[in-house]
Amino acid sequence: MTRAVGILGLGHYVPEKIITNTDMEKIVETSDEWITERTGIKQRHIAAPEEATSDLAYNAAVEALKDAGVAPEELDLVIVGTASSDYIFPSTACLVQARLGAKNAAAFDLAAGCSGFVYSLAVASQMVKSGLYNKILIIGAETLSRIMNWTDRNTCVLFGDGAGAAVVGEVEEGYGVLGIDMGADGGKFLLQPAGGSRNPASEETVAAKGHTIHMNGQEVFKFAIQIMGKTAKRALAKANMKPEELDMLFPHQANYRIITSAAKRLKMPMDKVWVNVDKYANTSAASIPIALCEAQKAGALKKGDNIILDGFGAGLTWAAIVLKWSK
Ligand code: ACO
Repeated sequence: MTRAVGILGLGHYVPEKIITNTDMEKIVETSDEWITERTGIKQRHIAAPEEATSDLAYNAAVEALKDAGVAPEELDLVIVGTASSDYIFPSTACLVQARLGAKNAAAFDLAAGCSGFVYSLAVASQMVKSGLYNKILIIGAETLSRIMNWTDRNTCVLFGDGAGAAVVGEVEEGYGVLGIDMGADGGKFLLQPAGGSRNPASEETVAAKGHTIHMNGQEVFKFAIQIMGKTAKRALAKANMKPEELDMLFPHQANYRIITSAAKRLKMPMDKVWVNVDKYANTSAASIPIALCEAQKAGALKKGDNIILDGFGAGLTWAAIVLKWSK
């Protein structure tokens, strides 16, 4: 008999400092009206100067471990989905592993852009299902504010900082992960061009702002509205479930228009869709676990609910997972 695997506990953390759209008007030529209309974003949280991605990740992890009733020493593995790690190496997961005192855990980062948390859940669930590991901490954490070009209004209004974490382990039979779909279509619509082996850091790369996010927004938009529905339907088919059986959709929080389009493709009314892009903007790999954690805290998740996590991101990548909520 195969093991049922699900989420045992959740945690999230966002930095204290808030930058509203009105604040953004003082930084670049933009307006609250433009940002709200095109994206649904009203504000974003931005990390303090001394806070890095591993700090946000650690805070979310502590809360998730507490919620799951799991001690750091019980963890077999820590996975951090991130596109804004503290260093090129070591991995952010190793920094979190050390700070938690998770001395029995292996650790690695997973690079799948905003799909990082859903990819991490896919990997972790199969490692627990196979019997290789029992308890895995997965985290989506980002400080995209550090790699933003604060003079480019096309990108800097879109992102925020935050972290969300989940402890993955064995759950009651019939609950937990029921269907997974993942994919990629490698391209360069969304990238940080410098700082890696292709364009190592130099005076020229700094002057050209090569260490910041470069994005073709319209291409990413077109991709996102196609893929969110497709990947969700594939994951539902693997779970042997119809969209109308879903109780809640947790989409990646990039843009309200993308979220409503995904909901429409799944014929889901908006009261079954968790939306917080207005409060946090796009926190990349952190957006889905922050949403899940908020829903749990609000009492919006009941045992037996059928939910779907639906993400897309840099790579380009996408992933959707159907779960029967087990807590
Ligand atoms: N304020 C005011 N005007 C702006 C701003 C701004 N912040 N940004 C762009 N504009 C202007 C443009 O310059 C353009 O002006 P022009 O017509 O004079 O040239 C006009 O607004 C329209 O620009 P578009 O790019 O056509 O606007 P669009 O409706 O496509 O919205 C947006 C842009 C919001 C970026 C949209 O394309 C989008 O959401 N794309 C997806 C982005 C995304 O989700 N990225 C994250 C991926 S996940 C990850 O891995 C990080």
